[in-house]
Amino acid sequence: MYVCLCNGVSDKKIREAVRQFHPQSFQQLRKFIPVGNQCGKCVRAAREIMQEELIQI
Ligand code: FES
Repeated sequence: MYVCLCNGVSDKKIREAVRQFHPQSFQQLRKFIPVGNQCGKCVRAAREIMQEELIQI
């Protein structure tokens, strides 16, 4: 499922980036994948997915 339509980023891509890079914040995650850097509508959902994934690793 696409989370960020502006950049074509899926929830799977966010989860993979979290597992690979272990970001400490959403801003850090954005250094690795382009999410939430245009219209910003996806930021809340992307943060939630990041938090979900961080809990599991
Ligand atoms: Fe992610 Fe627009 S949907 S920045």
